[in-house]
Amino acid sequence: MNQPNSASKSGRNSSLPIIIIAVTIALIIGAALITSLQPLFFPIAGSAEAVQVDQLFGVMLFIGGIIFLLVEGMLVFSLLRFRAKPGDMSDGPPIGGNSTLELVWTAIPAVVVVILTIYSYSVWVNIQSVKPNEQTINVVGARFAWTFSYELNQRNLPRDIQLSDLAPEMQEQVREGMVINYPQMATWVNQPVHALLTTQDVNHAFWIPGMRVKQDLLAGRTTYTRFTPIEAGVYRVVCAELCGSGHGAMAGQVVETVDADGNPVQNLTGAWLVVYPDEETYLREFFEPEAMKVLFPPEDPALLGRAVLDSGAYPCATCHVLGDLGWTGTIGPNLDGIGLRAETRVSGETAEEYLIESLRNPHSFLVAGYGALMPQFNPDPSQTNYMPDSDLNAIVAYLLAQGTGE
Ligand code: CUA
Repeated sequence: MNQPNSASKSGRNSSLPIIIIAVTIALIIGAALITSLQPLFFPIAGSAEAVQVDQLFGVMLFIGGIIFLLVEGMLVFSLLRFRAKPGDMSDGPPIGGNSTLELVWTAIPAVVVVILTIYSYSVWVNIQSVKPNEQTINVVGARFAWTFSYELNQRNLPRDIQLSDLAPEMQEQVREGMVINYPQMATWVNQPVHALLTTQDVNHAFWIPGMRVKQDLLAGRTTYTRFTPIEAGVYRVVCAELCGSGHGAMAGQVVETVDADGNPVQNLTGAWLVVYPDEETYLREFFEPEAMKVLFPPEDPALLGRAVLDSGAYPCATCHVLGDLGWTGTIGPNLDGIGLRAETRVSGETAEEYLIESLRNPHSFLVAGYGALMPQFNPDPSQTNYMPDSDLNAIVAYLLAQGTGE
């Protein structure tokens, strides 16, 4: 009985290094296989930062994979190797402390954590560092829409426009820097973007999965994030902070509709990041047409109001239906034909007074079935949700024309 037992024991001892090497190789191959699955569950890496974040994630997945396979492997091995024989009711052998083992299993994780800390910190510093020739885009979050603002100044006037072509007060505004509001974020490949984030109400979180950037918007503070797109395309912008009943609508959506011939069409609604292939295309297809709208606004107040609303300067589209502008929100009342209904909504108020009150003090009159969710748009620039009288009057003129056939 003793002979084969001691023989097999010494055989195990001599084969121990081989077993350790074999297990190590198996763990490395297994963890590498797990890591190779990463692209399956990640969106396309559209920015230089995304490549760095994915590499960091790959390293963590690899180390985590080794630990996972080691722990689960030991568990399964122990279950099989040390299970009780049939009829054996005795206790297992008492096992005491093992200082060497404890030192090893404390030291290895400590080294791993230190390495990951240094590596993650260097990726973080790379992302946050100021890049040359950054494009600054102001991102405003509001319940429940994103607005992106671009500065128009003397240096980026459209090519066929000279400063002297503009009316004197417009020249002054261009010198000070005018604002182009747009419901989408736009840039081009290899252009470093510096996004300045502010909120008009509660906290939101600005997330572009394809760029691997996610940053909270904090009430009363300006936060920022940076990324450099490397792939042209259209990327979803998402709100990642539960901010109220329209939170889900603060994400770029793909809406299926049908065209005139009954063929399915995919429409993008909500907020998206559009990355043009180069600066030339960005200027031609996005910046210059939008700059022209700001430099030469329509004189008709109703057309001006339409342009203001269409620019996304105010977060109305997410919550209201308005066929003329393609709005499909259902959180607030339908605005189709509002010009007609406003006449008789509240006795003693003209349609114009009713609409002004509905923007300046939206909770004064609530349409049956809708809660007090609409933000109040204030006349004073020092307040949140600032809406100058000029914008208010233009928007009211446009809304008054809805449904009246004008
Ligand atoms: Cu904004 Cu969720």
